[in-house]
Amino acid sequence: MKHLPAEAILDKMTTPEKANLCDGEGSWHTHGVERLGISGAMMTDGPHGLRKMVMKDGKWSTNAATCMPTASALAASWNREIAAHAANTIAKDAIAEGVAVVLGPGVNMKRSPLCGRNFEYFSEDPYFAGSFAAAYISAMQQNGVGSCIKHFAVNNQETRRFTVSANVAARPLHETYLRAFEIAIQAAKPEAVMESYNRINGKHAAESRWLLDDLLRKKWGFEGVVMSDWDAVNDRVASLEAGLDLEMPTSHGSGRDYILAALADGKIDESLLDRAARRVLALATKERPAPVPVDRAAQHVAALACARECMVLLKNEKGALPLAKGERIAVIGEAEALRYQGSGSSKVVVDSPANNALAEMKKYTDNITYVPFADGIDAAVGAAKACGKVVLFLGLPESAEFEGADRKTMALPKEQLELADAVLAAAAQPVVVLTCGAPVELPFADRTDAMLLTYLCGEATAEAAAEILFGETNPSGKLAETFPMRLEDTPSYFNFPGTFDNCDYAEGIYIGYRYYEKKKIPVRFPFGHGLSYTTFAYSNLAGDENAVTLTVKNTGSRAGSEVVQVYMHDNAPYVSRPPKELCGYTKVALAPGEEKRVTIPVERRVYSFYDEVRGDFYTRGGDYTLSVGASSADIRGEIVVCVHGDAPKTVRVHRNTYFRDVILDDRYAPARDIFAAAMLPRSERTPENEALGNTMDNPAVRRRMHYVLRQAVYSNPDCSETLIEETIAACNAALEGADKQ
Ligand code: GLC
Repeated sequence: MKHLPAEAILDKMTTPEKANLCDGEGSWHTHGVERLGISGAMMTDGPHGLRKMVMKDGKWSTNAATCMPTASALAASWNREIAAHAANTIAKDAIAEGVAVVLGPGVNMKRSPLCGRNFEYFSEDPYFAGSFAAAYISAMQQNGVGSCIKHFAVNNQETRRFTVSANVAARPLHETYLRAFEIAIQAAKPEAVMESYNRINGKHAAESRWLLDDLLRKKWGFEGVVMSDWDAVNDRVASLEAGLDLEMPTSHGSGRDYILAALADGKIDESLLDRAARRVLALATKERPAPVPVDRAAQHVAALACARECMVLLKNEKGALPLAKGERIAVIGEAEALRYQGSGSSKVVVDSPANNALAEMKKYTDNITYVPFADGIDAAVGAAKACGKVVLFLGLPESAEFEGADRKTMALPKEQLELADAVLAAAAQPVVVLTCGAPVELPFADRTDAMLLTYLCGEATAEAAAEILFGETNPSGKLAETFPMRLEDTPSYFNFPGTFDNCDYAEGIYIGYRYYEKKKIPVRFPFGHGLSYTTFAYSNLAGDENAVTLTVKNTGSRAGSEVVQVYMHDNAPYVSRPPKELCGYTKVALAPGEEKRVTIPVERRVYSFYDEVRGDFYTRGGDYTLSVGASSADIRGEIVVCVHGDAPKTVRVHRNTYFRDVILDDRYAPARDIFAAAMLPRSERTPENEALGNTMDNPAVRRRMHYVLRQAVYSNPDCSETLIEETIAACNAALEGADKQ
């Protein structure tokens, strides 16, 4: 149905009607304006499938829908087309159900593997998460279904999520925790942003004007609706002023009444209300596709196509995988009901929840001895000894991965570890199938010949797993998060989930592989890792600061896809930086023997760092190393590129300016003599030193590089406060002169 432009409708609305628009209608709708023929818009979860709740016979129930791989699995495809494929599939369900906006994707960083919702998030790398989310959002919205990126921002734990303050310095805030949102919002323009429950440096995200208006709208250019997470509003008027347009779910009118009262008391201007109501109207009146029934079978085919690309072959030795058709195997553990999603608001109801890997494996061999977990260790060991080849199913229980709680440990359940110890000791050729949505400790990794991580791959998990186990599908997934050896090695180990309502992000920018590489901590499986049943060679790498080009060849005997990753290293960093930072990736499918020349654009922002002094990102001009690899730990080639940096932003000289900042910056050259006279003791201004000029070659200058100007009164008896002030004035005059050029 076509509507007038939001502005025209707004002019016809009363103030109470506008205030009503800023409060949800029920649990899943915006209000409409019945008097003007405007109906509300429906929104539902979630990121990996539609969770449309309906009231039936006085009870809430959820309509069945297609369950795609959850975010951590989808990310493992490293394929933007798979992100789009999943989004398109979910959009079809949304259109069929008359849903205008899907509440996803979630792009929060995986600061700790313990976060209970990590299965709902893409990565520990902000560039990856943002670029992958952009593909998902663009695809979703090309179907006419809105996307709502969440949870904005710094929402990295479930413990005390309604009150905890994420205490994070400016640099990690911008470089690590906001970056994925910035990339996705600017690249894909989601219709909505869901602000998070938590506080950031003490302030509720819902009440942060800096976050919701200065940064999100004025700096990033976001024009859609900012909605609250459910029950996230602490002070409705303060949040309206900060830029929160829509309180969800309904506050049963109290939010509206707070707004009307604040207007009546003159505490806020009606322009604030108009601003919010206009945005909600625009979303509610956006023309949406007419409902079309979905082809459930076709949806499942899409779910399977995605799952095939999301599983990660972590280990494969002694030719353990693929299994041979008809081969005699012992299948041990919960193979009849693989987990395929996490729990909480993202949970999808599916028509056929079986995910029976045993039944799927029987399509390839009928020579299976099956020992379910309940039959106990003795039976499992007996079958392992009798069959030799064993497929052992292990994984996290649903109780470990759900919204509202974090894990306390990275360990698998004790009884599973006991089973693993016994079975892996007895099996001649063990294979482990691991089903979880987030990293776990794998103390038995060296005792199995092969390991396949299914992740939580949605309704087609079992089918895809069986296809990969028997070689019908060649695995091509790679980890978009590190699997550390143990919890104690993780960067946030001392500061997760914090103490009561304070969580200090003391590790700064060093999360995930950035941390493990910087500290040279060995990991179980590195970021970007994933094996194939074939092999790939990289050659002829070339490129510049904007892109790299290389040849990738399938050197094996079967078709496969390779994820080529590009990492950046700053060769002369101004600040502490990780050894490598992901700045590009692509997935390329190759027939046996086939080679392709691929060009991978480099995300330029990765060269920069957030300069807390300047309050913005800054790119140092100079040399950087770009490396290409099959994982962050499997680098196949590198080149040095010269990056055109930002002009040094004017930072005026003052008493606490370091010598080095003046000596190393040629813009101060005209003031260097007065600078030297003030700063260097007469005793050190020898003819030899003077001949070297006021440069790094001059030992007297070099000795004081790490001093600040005000210290000259101690080291130079000829210096005075007056001379220091004159020096500062001369330096800044030189700076102004240089900036005018
Ligand atoms: C939740 C979640 C959010 C979800 C919303 C609606 O508490 O944090 O991700 O979209 O409520 O269910």
